[in-house]
Amino acid sequence: MVAIVDTKGRFSDRWIEYCKSRNIAYKIVNPYANNIIEELSECTIFLWHWHHADYKDQLFARQLLYALEQKEISVFPDFKTMWHFDDKLGQKYLLESIDAPLVKSYIFYSKEEAVQWTTATRFPVVFKLRGGAGSINVKLVHNKYQALGLIRKAFGKGFPLYNQTAIFNDTVSQFKKAKTVKNILRMLKWGGYVLFPPKSYRLFPKQKGYVYFQEFIPNNTFDIRIIVIDKKAFAIKRHTRKGDFRASGSGSISYAAKDIDIRCVQIGLEAAKKLHTQCVAYDFVFNEQNEPLIVEISYGFTMEAYDSCEGFWDRHLNWHPGRFNPQAWIIEALLKKNKPLNEPVSENRPSQTQDL
Ligand SMILES: Nc1ncnc2c1ncn2[C@@H]1O[C@H](COP(=O)(O)OP(=O)(O)O)[C@@H](O)[C@H]1O
Ligand SMILES: [Mg+2]
Repeated sequence: MVAIVDTKGRFSDRWIEYCKSRNIAYKIVNPYANNIIEELSECTIFLWHWHHADYKDQLFARQLLYALEQKEISVFPDFKTMWHFDDKLGQKYLLESIDAPLVKSYIFYSKEEAVQWTTATRFPVVFKLRGGAGSINVKLVHNKYQALGLIRKAFGKGFPLYNQTAIFNDTVSQFKKAKTVKNILRMLKWGGYVLFPPKSYRLFPKQKGYVYFQEFIPNNTFDIRIIVIDKKAFAIKRHTRKGDFRASGSGSISYAAKDIDIRCVQIGLEAAKKLHTQCVAYDFVFNEQNEPLIVEISYGFTMEAYDSCEGFWDRHLNWHPGRFNPQAWIIEALLKKNKPLNEPVSENRPSQTQDL
């Protein structure tokens, strides 16, 4: 039996569809219930696309999933896929450990060391909080004085993880650029959050006691996002906001495969193998020598943003044109691994995803 957490609008929509269309026995479970372990007693697979911005999920999703791995349930996301999720500090150590081409990154746990670092650093640099997405916690630091201000705050009252006003301002500039219904709704939603901050955001503790900087890689008008699932890769190109170095969250996406630097695909596939990850998204920028560098990784992504991809690459970098279903790849990989389940995994139809 497959257990799925129904996170409407996210990966679970397609996992449920997948099970229904292939007559695979599944049940919807509530991970927040006290008896969740008992609930899963009949289950061999557990899938939960948990979200970084949900305070409840952040409280215990990792712990629950790790515990289930101990119970020999095949889970998504598993330990190696998610321990570093929404944690740029963890990602720094991990990517340095596997010699992946991470942008030079600096972490300090003491104010003195951080201040000392600014004396011998060339500006601008990029300041980041360890969590957050859509560029909301990523800032360009133009000079030493700005850096010292951020360091003081990092070791003083700290930073909110979700700064509603900053996010609202971002939605306003996106609305000015494109007056779409989607942008109006986003603006209204975040305007409401400025006035009435949702409890789930207020609960997040202040970010303090560390400060994280990255070397600034200039002149990038886009970033390249590569996603690798089960030895297959797909990609998008995201343009930066106007007059801004940040691409993530800009909503301006190109899908042409010819725009994707194949070196990013290659690095993504190789690193995924070393990381033993079920699903990983990498953000790449390019340095002045035009070499691709990773700025961060993530196990989750917005599902629909990739539906217009023109195809995907297999592990030998062969191109497979046409539509594909990455969420099906996730569940198929678990079903393949989970032999005793012996459910009819696409017996009647050719698998989209034979071992490529
Ligand atoms: N060191 C850097 N140099 C240049 N651009 C960067 C750097 N780090 C991030 N960026 C840009 O800022 C965006 C957001 O940064 P990222 O670390 O991916 O944060 P988020 O978690 O918010 O997506 C990236 O999509 C990229 O365009
Ligand atoms: Mg990013």
